[in-house]
Amino acid sequence: MLVSKEPHRLLLDLAERYGAIYKFRLLHLHVVVITDPALAMDILKSPHVDKVRFLYSFLDPFLMGTNLLTGHTDKHWKAVRKGVAPAFSAQHMRYALRCVVECCNSLAKYLEDQGPNKAMDVDELLLRESMDVIGRFGFQKDMNAINSLWHPASEANHNVRALLGSTEEVVERTKTFCRWFQLWRAEARHGWTILGRFKCIIRDLLEHIKTTKLEAGTFADLLLKTKDPKTGKPLSDKQLLPEIAALFFAGIDTTGHTGSFCLFLLSQHPEVEAKVVQELQSLGLAASPKNPQPRELTYADLAELVYLQAVVKETLRMFPPVAIGQARIVSADLSAGNNLRLPSGTCAIVPHHAMHSSSLNWDKPNEFLPERWLVPGTEYAVAKKEALVNSKMSKEDARAAAAASLSEDAEGDNRQPKRYIPFAEGPRNCVGQSLAKVSLVATMALLLARFSFKLADDMGGAAGVRAAERYALVNGIAGGLRMHAIPRESHKREE
Ligand code: HEM
Repeated sequence: MLVSKEPHRLLLDLAERYGAIYKFRLLHLHVVVITDPALAMDILKSPHVDKVRFLYSFLDPFLMGTNLLTGHTDKHWKAVRKGVAPAFSAQHMRYALRCVVECCNSLAKYLEDQGPNKAMDVDELLLRESMDVIGRFGFQKDMNAINSLWHPASEANHNVRALLGSTEEVVERTKTFCRWFQLWRAEARHGWTILGRFKCIIRDLLEHIKTTKLEAGTFADLLLKTKDPKTGKPLSDKQLLPEIAALFFAGIDTTGHTGSFCLFLLSQHPEVEAKVVQELQSLGLAASPKNPQPRELTYADLAELVYLQAVVKETLRMFPPVAIGQARIVSADLSAGNNLRLPSGTCAIVPHHAMHSSSLNWDKPNEFLPERWLVPGTEYAVAKKEALVNSKMSKEDARAAAAASLSEDAEGDNRQPKRYIPFAEGPRNCVGQSLAKVSLVATMALLLARFSFKLADDMGGAAGVRAAERYALVNGIAGGLRMHAIPRESHKREE
C-alpha cells in the first residue's frame, strides 16, 4: 500500500485510520502529522516554527539559489516578502484582471480555431495561460506561451516548453538522483537542455526588467527596489534571479492544474455547469436568447460571481495543488491546543489534501458540492455542524463574502481555526494567492461563457482521470487532461 499510493492519498488514509494527530519516526526525526484544524493553526502561526530546509533546498539548484519559497523565515526572507507583497494587494488586482482577460481571450481564440472535434490537452493550455499571466502581471513581459501554439517550431515555443518541462525534470531528478549524471541517456541530456533554457529565460527576464520602464508597484518594480537587510543595498543579480524563477515555479503549475481539475469536475456535473452558465447569463457575461451579445468581464463582476467562486473553492478543497501540505520544523518547545507539546526539533506536517478530505473535518468530503460554500464560514472548523448544504446566505452576504475572499487581506476571522487552507496558513502562506483567485475565477468565467468542456474518450472517464492523478511537487494529472471545447451555440444546436 505504501508504494502504490500517491503520497497525499496515503496521508488521508492514515488520518482516517489513526485520527487527526499521529506520529512516526523517520531515522532520527520525530514527525507529527496533524489534520486537526485548531492544532494545525497553532503550529503554523507560531513564531517557533520554520520551513524544513532540507525538503526545500533541493529546489535551489534549479531555481538558481535560495528564494522566497525555499528559504528560512529569516531577515532576508522578511525583507523580500515585505518588499514584494504590495504587488498582490487588492488595488493591484484590477491590473491582474486585465492581464488575465487578455491572455484568456487568446486561449479562447485558439480553442475556437481548433474546433470541437479535436481533443486538446487543456491542462497544458491552462499552464500556458498561467505563464502568460505571470509574465505580464509580474514582469510586463509577453511570454508568448499561448501565441506560440500557432507556431510550434518557433524559438518562443521551445522556451515555453522548457519552462513547463522544468518542473517535470526537477521531479525526475529528485526521484532518480543518478539522472543528473546519466549523460548517455537521451532523456537525461534533454533534461539538461531544458534546465539550461529555463535559466537563460530567467536571465533574459532579469535583463528585461532592468531595461524596461516598469509600472510602479508591480512585482518586478518592487523586487528591484527591495534592499538586502545585510548590506542595505538593492538585491544583487545573484539574489534577484532565484526570486524571478520562484515566482514562475510557484505560480504556474498550482494555478494551471487547479483550472484543469475545475473543468474536469464540471464535465462530470452538468447540473453544476448549468448553474454557472445561468449565473454568467444573469450578469450578461454569457450569451443567452435574450442577450446574444455578452458584455466584457469587469473587476466588479468577480464579486458577483458567487456560485462560480463556490465552484473554484470546492475544486481547491478536493484538489489542493500543494496536496501533501506544509512541513515545519519546531525551533523551540511548543504547545498547541490544551495537551499537545512538541519538543524543539520535531517535524510537524499539515497535509492539505487530508485536512480537506477527512471525514473528521467535513460532511460528505468526497462529494463535489459547491453549495457548501454558500454557507457562511464554511472554511472554519466550527462551521462544520451548521454547514448544512441547504442553508443559504442572503444575496448581500454572499456577495460581500465573495468580494472578501478574492483578496488575502480580507480572509475573515483570523482567530478561528480553518479547515480549508489551500494557500497555506501563517507567515509562509502563499504570497500570490490573490492573483491565483482572480486568475481562476476570471479564466473559468471567460471560458465557460463560450465553451462547454467534455472529457475525451481516451481519458477513460472520471475513473481514468482519478487514476492518473499524480503528485509531482504539486498535484496534477499524469499525461495531461484531454478535452473537447464545444462552443456554446453549437452545443445548443446539438441538443
Ligand atoms: C491555486 C494556486 C496556488 C496555490 C494553491 C498556492 C499554494 C501555495 C502554498 C500552499 C504555499 C506554501 C508552500 C509551502 O510552505 O511549502 C505557497 C507559497 C508561495 N506561493 Fe503560492 N499558490 C498558488 C498560486 C501562486 C501564484 C499565482 C503565485 C505567484 C505568481 C504564487 C507564489 C508563491 C510564493 C512566492 C510562495 C512562497 C511564499 C513565502 O514563503 O513567503 N503562488 N503557495
